[in-house]
Amino acid sequence: MILNNCTALITGASAGIGRELARQLANRGRTLVLIARREQRLNELRDELRNRNAQLNVYTCVVDLCEKTQIEELVQWLEQNRIEVDFLVNNAGLGDYGSVATSDIERDNRILQVNISALTFLTRLMLPQMISRRRGAILNVSSSAGFLPIPGMTVYAATKAYVNSFTEALRAELRGTGVSVTALCPGPVHTEFGDVAKRPGGEAETGPEFIYVSLDQTARDALAAVEADKPLVIPGAFMKFGMFLVRIMPMPIMRLAWRLGARRR
Ligand SMILES: NC(=O)c1ccc[n+]([C@@H]2O[C@H](COP(=O)([O-])OP(=O)(O)OC[C@H]3O[C@@H](n4cnc5c(N)ncnc54)[C@H](OP(=O)(O)O)[C@@H]3O)[C@@H](O)[C@H]2O)c1
Repeated sequence: MILNNCTALITGASAGIGRELARQLANRGRTLVLIARREQRLNELRDELRNRNAQLNVYTCVVDLCEKTQIEELVQWLEQNRIEVDFLVNNAGLGDYGSVATSDIERDNRILQVNISALTFLTRLMLPQMISRRRGAILNVSSSAGFLPIPGMTVYAATKAYVNSFTEALRAELRGTGVSVTALCPGPVHTEFGDVAKRPGGEAETGPEFIYVSLDQTARDALAAVEADKPLVIPGAFMKFGMFLVRIMPMPIMRLAWRLGARRR
């Protein structure tokens, strides 16, 4: 779907990848609906985008995606205001660095709610109207972490494996309906993700700088992939090649690597 003049709903628009996607859509879209919990951040972004493009309609909605009723209210509000979303960006997400045995159970639950339940529920609620108009695109922001189990980020990686599987199967279901689905699977990107994922007193996990891809490129590649109706996009040549190797690697080799890694620690 060509995104010019689209009506896009972006979850997690108050920071990071979601905010950058909103910025890149500002000169092309007709209407943006920005979703997150931090109202002031959303309002600042709304003002910035309106300054850039006076023709753009920007709505901000404070929604906690852990709350199913708030998602239902959001969809009712869209209907009441006749806002017909044709580009749904399920971007909001969070992680946790550390072992499962020592995790905060409430936090695990929030990760499952936002990364899996809200993404699934919002997609389910928005799909029928997209199908009836035979026009729509969904961008599910997953992660390269979804391609392999990651000890120390176990729950997060598993939620992203769900997103990859959900996206691929939904895409097959939607063939011929005029609605496309794409998974964005970035490697590391400098955002607030690491600070949110670290535990009290813990460290944010970082890798060498060369594996990081810029926010600008991540969002640009994602929007290009949606317009090209690609099933999956991994921004950055290094991550693309790395994830190719990971995806063809047999699980016994992966287990061996973890065993050797554990012995060294
Ligand atoms: N950064 C990376 O290295 C990386 C790599 C691969 C994939 N990703 C994925 O990219 C997506 C965006 O992450 P990011 O890196 O941009 O992180 P970020 O800077 O921490 O942004 C996360 C966004 O999610 C929103 N959010 C979190 N919990 C929410 C809730 N309960 N209800 C509503 N909104 C909520 C936050 O808004 P509020 O706090 O204002 O609610 C924020 O706007 C995530 O799905 C993440 O898994 C990130």
